[in-house]
Amino acid sequence: MSTPGIKIFAPATVGNVACGFDVLGLSIEGLGDELIARQVDEPGLRIVKITGAKGKLPYEVEKNTAGLAGLRLLQHLGKEQEIGIEFELRKKMPFGSGLGSSAASAVAGAMAVNELLKRPLEKRDLLPFALAGESIATGTAAHADNVAPSLLGGIILVRSSNPPDVHRLPAIPGLQVTIISPKLEIMTKEARSILSSQVPLSDFVQQSANLGAFVAAMYRQDITLLGRCLKDIIIEPQRAKLIPHFSEVQDAALEAGALGCSISGAGPAIFALSSNSLIAEAVGNAMSSTWEKYGIEHTIYQSPINLEGARKM
Ligand code: HSE
Repeated sequence: MSTPGIKIFAPATVGNVACGFDVLGLSIEGLGDELIARQVDEPGLRIVKITGAKGKLPYEVEKNTAGLAGLRLLQHLGKEQEIGIEFELRKKMPFGSGLGSSAASAVAGAMAVNELLKRPLEKRDLLPFALAGESIATGTAAHADNVAPSLLGGIILVRSSNPPDVHRLPAIPGLQVTIISPKLEIMTKEARSILSSQVPLSDFVQQSANLGAFVAAMYRQDITLLGRCLKDIIIEPQRAKLIPHFSEVQDAALEAGALGCSISGAGPAIFALSSNSLIAEAVGNAMSSTWEKYGIEHTIYQSPINLEGARKM
């Protein structure tokens, strides 16, 4: 016998947000993964269906980000031998895009188990389990800059991923995110392997100043200050070569009025922040025209900051 089940939505996210490599992330609306979970008689967690993944995701629970996140939570609650759960994962976002696809699945897995068991844990306490799931995708201890905003919503500052110490910043009202995502995949592992382990002191100083100013801008709701600090002078110059015509797309976004524009997470998606939805739309059109010129297939997303994060649908 199985119960009718519950459905969870976990949103896509933009990691790094220009000036905060591995320490800033924000959540968007509309795009994300869905997971249906049902309670069944046979104890243990199983993945019974995956759609939208083009056969790229394993059904083995311990090798699947949603599965492992859910399993770790079930084990933590001491219910693995007692409760039976089936997952149906509906991938609704592109892989290797820099939009936190694996993190969204991991968050959905942890949320689903918690909701099915009538919320034994608070939402924010699910973070370590979602991070355990996400670690499959990164191959190392996961960074919380996608997982935390997907779970909690809003704009998140990650002081530490392990143990998790994350802080939600007050998002400036009206802020809009435009994302352009090409039909290309970049694996985060690969995009990290090209990064230099050395940072010139002057670059460190400038990037720290911009990150500090970003936090101040959010607390002061100061959109012009935000526009001055949305820059990545350390990581973006090293990764830009992985994304076709990156600088031209960025210039087009800034000329159309974006406050800032940089690589979303490890790329290849590019994001821009704008002060309102009309500018965000113009920014999307400008970025799109640039890639159209070169015949690069892409999708544009536009969204306010998602303040809720993962939710039961
Ligand atoms: N911040 C990571 C990176 C991506 O840019 O490599 C997600 O954790």
